[in-house]
Amino acid sequence: MSTALIILAAGKGTRMKSDLPKVLHPIAGVPMLIHAIAAGSVLESSRIVVVAGHGAKAVGDAAEAYQPAIQIALQSDQLGTAHAVAQAAPLLEGFDGDAMVLYGDTPFIRPETLARMQEARKTHDVVVLGFEAADPGRYGRLVMTGDTLNAIVEFKDADDEVRAITFCNSGVISADSKTLFSLIEAVDNANASEEYYLTDIIAIARARGLTATAVACDQAETMGINSRAELALAEAAFQARARSEALENGTTMPAPETVHFAHDTHVGRDTVIEQNVVFGPGVTIETGAHIRAFSHLEGCHVSRGATIGPYARLRPGTEVAEDARIGNFVEVKNAILHEGAKVNHLSYVGDADVGEAANIGAGTITCNYDGVMKHRTTIGARAFIGSNTMLVAPVSVGNDAMTATGSVITKDVPDSDLAIARAKQINKPGLARKLFDMLNSTKAKRDKGAS
Ligand code: UD1
Ligand code: CA
Repeated sequence: MSTALIILAAGKGTRMKSDLPKVLHPIAGVPMLIHAIAAGSVLESSRIVVVAGHGAKAVGDAAEAYQPAIQIALQSDQLGTAHAVAQAAPLLEGFDGDAMVLYGDTPFIRPETLARMQEARKTHDVVVLGFEAADPGRYGRLVMTGDTLNAIVEFKDADDEVRAITFCNSGVISADSKTLFSLIEAVDNANASEEYYLTDIIAIARARGLTATAVACDQAETMGINSRAELALAEAAFQARARSEALENGTTMPAPETVHFAHDTHVGRDTVIEQNVVFGPGVTIETGAHIRAFSHLEGCHVSRGATIGPYARLRPGTEVAEDARIGNFVEVKNAILHEGAKVNHLSYVGDADVGEAANIGAGTITCNYDGVMKHRTTIGARAFIGSNTMLVAPVSVGNDAMTATGSVITKDVPDSDLAIARAKQINKPGLARKLFDMLNSTKAKRDKGAS
């Protein structure tokens, strides 16, 4: 069965105190909205509609950047959750299938939970996701009789008896799309907040003789983000889960609490990730690689047996082949290091191709930027780049070639050649001694004059 996701993301998020729309604040390197969309995408969702209001342009751009097929419905005035869902109706006109309503600020609903809701839909017309609340606070209360959900009552509108219920509404609701929109048409705003409550559709459905039930999930999944403090808690929750998954999958981490993962980090088994390693988005680490302490990686692929760091920075477009080695204080960007290549110390390798088993000496820089454009450097297999070589791109160094230490290479170096591009050394006999004597006597005269 195909499912349309309707993701509510129009709210202002006042408590974030931010110019950035709330749902675009990142968790694990990607907007929280994307986490919600990704969770829902497990449902063979053929359609995704994001309801945007505050910062709609930015929200729409972020959603489309993630998945171009996403549609944006505009909710100019935030009149309530039912009103928000209603804005998606024109986009889903004629759609035949289920609708699942999610919140853009509730990023941790597990795909398995949504699959359980889908299962419950086989026997019930409307399915709500509920949770047993440690502190039910201001959540909507689920009024149940056995498996039957009779109504959802918002805290503000509840009497003491209903407020005593601890089974609460997460906000996630699923029903046949046409049924959902027909129920929403009947919602009014005669309540304490004068809002169109999505939660009212339960009582309306029951009055129409439809069935409703609730599926329960862990409260942690329903964590909503309203403030920077909650954003930090959400990040911590994400990291805790990512770390235990990595350990579970066969990664060694001596200090997992210091390692930061992105939403999409892939780590193979028998990898070692040392202390204080940070992953930005788009990183894959293959089996048996070793990421040493204080390294920062994003948008890169590290193959089997490679070693990175300590203190290395891999930027987007970096491809590190088997057994290659990137050492301390080395930055690599948009570059391929072929099998067994080594860049061990204090180098910048950008827009480059480094051949198999090539060795890049300490302090080497690929001068890739001329102030206007970027250019590529190509280094052949087994080449030896002397320490402190400046490779002024575009330039290539051939297979089995060498550059002398301290060279500024501006012309291509053919295979097997040695390029020397530095001033010739001249030794002046005794001149250092004479200079010292001269300088010392000048200083002595000056000190005497001052006293
Ligand atoms: C809602 C539920 C409540 C539930 C709680 C869980 C209703 C009436 N109440 O309450 O039962 O326990 O969530 O967190 O549904 N939004 C829009 N447009 C609007 C209003 C809201 O897009 O006009 C979005 C918000 O940006 C947010 C989500 O919908 O992402 C929930 O809205 P919010 O105002 O936070 O609902 P609650 O009052 O918390
Ligand atoms: Ca809320």
